[in-house]
Amino acid sequence: MPGGGDSPAVLRHIAIIMDGNGRWAKKRMLPRVEGHRAGMKAVRKTISAAGELGIEALTLYAFSSENWRRPANEVADLMGLLRFYLRRELAELDRNNVRLELLGDWRALDSDIVADLDAARSRLSGNSGLIVALALNYGGQDELVRAVRAIAADAKAGMLDPNAIDAAAIEQRLDTASLPPLDLIIRTSGEERLSNFLLWQSAYAELLFVDTLWPDFDRAALEGAIAAFGRRERRYGGR
Ligand code: FPP
Repeated sequence: MPGGGDSPAVLRHIAIIMDGNGRWAKKRMLPRVEGHRAGMKAVRKTISAAGELGIEALTLYAFSSENWRRPANEVADLMGLLRFYLRRELAELDRNNVRLELLGDWRALDSDIVADLDAARSRLSGNSGLIVALALNYGGQDELVRAVRAIAADAKAGMLDPNAIDAAAIEQRLDTASLPPLDLIIRTSGEERLSNFLLWQSAYAELLFVDTLWPDFDRAALEGAIAAFGRRERRYGGR
């Protein structure tokens, strides 16, 4: 655990709850899908800015396990945009030296999307720049349930002593096991909730709520968030 103190805050891992696509579209009297389409463009800008700014990992909440409750046509629109994004942006992500990680129960998505995700991840696996972690069919409670099941299975198989279960044993079984510790969560559009995002990982993360609607988020907004993070004093429970 870092000791805090006078050292400047180092920002390795940012996660974003990309909220406000629907309101962005409504303000313009456009259908909601246009808000999601504009949100996809903001994803592109934010990934390239994060890479240029030397961030190690950027986690994006693209589809939550609760988003299935939206009207079927909106779910279909979001899945359509994801298909389009994976096919259209793959070469650009590769050029930008991006590596892809996937969080959540993404293998339960449509089989063609699962295949595209697998292919994208393997094509980008040799890259050494920004890690983009897409949270797809992700819920923080579901992630913890899956980790607990894995721990129980290891204990039952005699591979793990229940008394030896500690925070590290849990972290190793979370979807984020290969990512650096989470430093900052940004939620756009003025809502102030975590909405089942990175519940374990947010224990000591800074939370930043900005009024910007997600489709309007860009490099300047990311730089503003990084500057706000730099002004926070992180104590990790110390004084
Ligand atoms: C919230 O806006 C956003 C989402 C539910 C999904 C995020 C999706 C994207 C940014 C586009 C696709 C991304 C990729 C990576 C292909 P909302 O609909 O809840 O907005 P509202 O609260 O204003 O209604």
